[in-house]
Amino acid sequence: MTGVARVFSGIQPSGGMHLGNLLGALRNWVAYQHEHDAVYCVVDLHALTTAPDPDELRDNTLAAAAMLLSVGIDPDRSTLFVQSSVSEHAELAWMMECTVGFGELRRMTQFKDKSDRSEFVSAGLFTYPALQASDILLYDTDLVPVGDDQRQHIELCRDIAERFNRRYGDTFTVPAHVIPTAGARVMDLQNPADKMSKSLESAGTVGVLEESESVTRKFKRAVTDSENEVRYDPGTKPGVSNLLGILASATGRTPESVADDYAQYGPLKADTADAVNELLSPIRERYAELSSDPGEIARVLATGADKARTVAAATLERARTNAGLIPRSPA
Ligand code: TYM
Repeated sequence: MTGVARVFSGIQPSGGMHLGNLLGALRNWVAYQHEHDAVYCVVDLHALTTAPDPDELRDNTLAAAAMLLSVGIDPDRSTLFVQSSVSEHAELAWMMECTVGFGELRRMTQFKDKSDRSEFVSAGLFTYPALQASDILLYDTDLVPVGDDQRQHIELCRDIAERFNRRYGDTFTVPAHVIPTAGARVMDLQNPADKMSKSLESAGTVGVLEESESVTRKFKRAVTDSENEVRYDPGTKPGVSNLLGILASATGRTPESVADDYAQYGPLKADTADAVNELLSPIRERYAELSSDPGEIARVLATGADKARTVAAATLERARTNAGLIPRSPA
């Protein structure tokens, strides 16, 4: 595990994954496992911040793991595990909470958004970025592939690592985020001012496992604008620009060059739906195969947790020692 960069990222098991997760993050996860030492995690402890139903959380955690395998995470190349299986995450999170400032947490836009929408705001929702920093720093991570909405959390993680290193001596690798140029912020097809999020029954969200007819229908009904000019301009043409961004990301082009190919919205919508369906149909097929073998998913996760624990335990021990905590048992 030396010489190559370490990559770490995580995803919440809150319902099915959507096109934003895929284009903003998961495609980079898959790409990185070929040349880097990749560690990927289903972050079930993060999901607890909003008190999900226990049975749903269990099902969603296993479904998220199956989905990651279906999009192409290869357990022979990557370490794939569930966060709560490696208790070092929760333990280092406390040290992170003691390193991050109250004011820094209060400035997090995700906290502001989520707390505005919730009746009960848990302390865990507030300290969420400290747990996220723990996830990343435990693995001496160099690169964190994420969508644009995680930029602020990764920047805070860097600040936490630097502060800890200044206080206690060199302990953590300071990570960098990797955010794709196209697809970093996939917007809701019905409300292109909001990012696409996990309410899969919504007409604005495209699920990774959604049937192709439904995907096509959602793109056909996507909100555009009353002009009739295909131009990439997210500020004044958010709906059309979102379609261009999705098609560009799905086909490995830039949104501006894709725009040159279209004079009307109808063909742009149809081609975007086709490109997305081409991306999703093999994932759907693999998911159907994997779902029939839950034992295999459990085995992959157990092996991944063992591998992750070895790395995490060594980093936690270093952090404990440097911060002045005495050894757990006499040497
Ligand atoms: P989560 O579960 O909300 O999303 C998983 C990944 O998908 C990206 N993403 C998007 N990208 C583009 N357009 C969208 N509409 C869109 N929606 C989501 C996210 O940026 C993310 O990369 N806090 C994290 C999970 C986490 C984590 C970590 C990530 C916990 N610990 C450590 C990285 C490193 C989250 O809630 O992601």
